[in-house]
Amino acid sequence: MGARETWRGRSLVSLKSISAEDITTVLDYAAELKRTHRDKLAVARPPYPRTLAMLFEKPSLRTRVSFEAGMAQLGGHAIYLAPGDIGLGTRETVPDVAAALSRWVDVISARVFKHETVEQLAENATIPVINALSDMEHPLQAFADLLTIREYKGSLGGHLKLTYIGDGNNVLHTLLIACAKMGMSISAACPEGYGPDPAYLEEAIQIAHSGSGGIPVIEIVTDPAQAVKNADVLYTDVWASMGQEEEKAARAKVFAPYQINGMLVRKAKSDAIVLHCLPAHREEEITSEVMEAFKAPIIDEAENRLHTQKALISLMLGL
Ligand code: CP
Ligand code: NVA
Repeated sequence: MGARETWRGRSLVSLKSISAEDITTVLDYAAELKRTHRDKLAVARPPYPRTLAMLFEKPSLRTRVSFEAGMAQLGGHAIYLAPGDIGLGTRETVPDVAAALSRWVDVISARVFKHETVEQLAENATIPVINALSDMEHPLQAFADLLTIREYKGSLGGHLKLTYIGDGNNVLHTLLIACAKMGMSISAACPEGYGPDPAYLEEAIQIAHSGSGGIPVIEIVTDPAQAVKNADVLYTDVWASMGQEEEKAARAKVFAPYQINGMLVRKAKSDAIVLHCLPAHREEEITSEVMEAFKAPIIDEAENRLHTQKALISLMLGL
């Protein structure tokens, strides 16, 4: 079976079940699609236009637009189903939604509050299901992050260290797994009580130890200055995720020392880049000054959502 064939018909619910080889297949294909996109070459139309149903329980700019544009560029179509449109699990059950959608469309993406909802969709659909962000993971973001790091640093692997500053949330969970799979070191600084789910940390450590190369460092600390030492990539995300709006003020106090600002960036390697999954809350988790200084990699990272998702869908559908 060719490397690309391994994706055919598969779902992407969690990055945990995806091998380093399968991640690289998506990154390589995304890089190829990116060149095609840049050269304005026509992408071959699939013989029959494919349809993506996008279920959103939460807002989105990047995920929605990159999927819609990507499906159009692949000669297909995306249907946006807004929060409240279908009442996933309230108007009808998640398995019933999965079964009906499977008869009309070719692939489903779902942005959900509970990770179990996307698992249940995948269990009951007969077509691939993509996790477009849950409370536990954001695997689509990890593909774009890895492609961006590979573009800026030349390759992925043991020579690189990613430092994450902030909340131990869905984005950090996915980065822990992604770095461990690609053999990269990751050091995260989170306030006491706001670290990642221990199961994700344990899984990342296990993956790191089972790799063939040197063992990358996977650690959670509370001191940003300690985490940032020798960092090649600095990464942050909002302090209050979607669904945690009522905690925003309390979190702002706890997280104040966990801001990526000029002083912290200067403690990393001199050629370090800063990434942010976006949306960013300037002057909270990142200063406007740092956002502007690292606008190029941060916006490349957003662009790469398009290419990696096109690659993923093409591979899943065998286009
Ligand atoms: N990074 C990300 O998923 O952005 P959206 O929430 O705008 O989709
Ligand atoms: N952790 C953030 C990521 C947004 C892309 C959230 O879940 O809201």
